[in-house]
Amino acid sequence: MAVTPIAAECNIRLWPTQTWLLMIISCLGFTVIAKHSISVGVWLFNRMRAEKDLVKNYGSWALVTGATDGIGKALAHQLAQRGLNLVLVSRSSDKLETVSAEIQAKFPNICLKIIELDFSGDVSAGLRQIKEVSHDVDLGILINNVGITYPRAMFFHEVEESVWMKIVKVNLEVSTLVIKAVLAGMIERKRGAIVNIGSGAGMAVPSHPLYAIYAATKAYLNQLSRCLYAEYKHVGIHVQCQVPLYVATKMLREITSISRASLFVPSAEDYAEAAVRQIEIGYEAVCCPYWAHSLQWQLAQFVPHSLLDAWRLSVGLRRRSTLHPQFKILF
Ligand SMILES: NC(=O)c1ccc[n+]([C@@H]2O[C@H](COP(=O)([O-])OP(=O)(O)OC[C@H]3O[C@@H](n4cnc5c(N)ncnc54)[C@H](OP(=O)(O)O)[C@@H]3O)[C@@H](O)[C@H]2O)c1
Repeated sequence: MAVTPIAAECNIRLWPTQTWLLMIISCLGFTVIAKHSISVGVWLFNRMRAEKDLVKNYGSWALVTGATDGIGKALAHQLAQRGLNLVLVSRSSDKLETVSAEIQAKFPNICLKIIELDFSGDVSAGLRQIKEVSHDVDLGILINNVGITYPRAMFFHEVEESVWMKIVKVNLEVSTLVIKAVLAGMIERKRGAIVNIGSGAGMAVPSHPLYAIYAATKAYLNQLSRCLYAEYKHVGIHVQCQVPLYVATKMLREITSISRASLFVPSAEDYAEAAVRQIEIGYEAVCCPYWAHSLQWQLAQFVPHSLLDAWRLSVGLRRRSTLHPQFKILF
């Protein structure tokens, strides 16, 4: 095509600007690709690293909170399989006795203790028992797993104060007190692993509408873990926040009606196997143990926040109207 003198002149004038624009866009593109490639590389590298012997590295006992169901119970089985003695903590003594007997029958060579502690009630006696046990035995691992959420998807203004105060107490206040209760013994022994169970709701997505308080308490656990990781790694205590996305447990069934495991929703047992492997690898402050969750998290980072916000809100609203049609959509 013939170029008129005026157009040619325009092209010549635009050229340096276009070059700079192109260079800036290329640099930005390269930085984004490099950032994601590095995190994928680190993820792969960490999965290939040698596993630590948990008993030798941390101690011969592990304490698991919320050990009577779901992820906590499955983690207790995984740890027992590796020869760790267990302190099981939960709110119901009957369920604790049952789970303890079940694990003892399967792994007769380990020792078990139980501590009844309702995180939403008076916690002083239970915390005292945890403190005592962490001095009496070689407590190497804490799995800080108890966590509760809303009974259904709710706008913030609908959540009764008693409900959100209970979530804050269980997920945030008492979970922090449990860490405090075991830390002194670990510092004395100069070794230990503290594993806080976070949630994708507080980390993998920019927001988790209709579960705001739950998501916020999990974001707290994430940041607390990162800070404690930096504070205590030189003492030999490894603090890690593990981030599950959906896992087929009672909690998930109650809020989503998903009851069957699938590719992206592992069973508690499959999830726990991956979770314990992350303690054995144990180099990251925050990790997403299950591979399919990790993949979802990585992919979510390429999606604009506004789209993820809208998607999460629509999922919450849909669940609310199908599972609880009596609560009409408000806006
Ligand atoms: N499942 C998921 O999709 C998912 C996703 C992300 C994060 N998480 C997190 O993973 C953790 C475990 O969840 P899960 O799905 O395994 O839950 P779950 O099936 O409901 O089990 C929770 C465990 O905590 C105990 N518990 C509940 N309230 C308690 C209280 N007030 N005091 C003491 N113990 C209490 C339960 O005891 P009972 O046996 O008496 O009920 C049970 O042992 C939670 O922190 C949760 O936020 C779960």
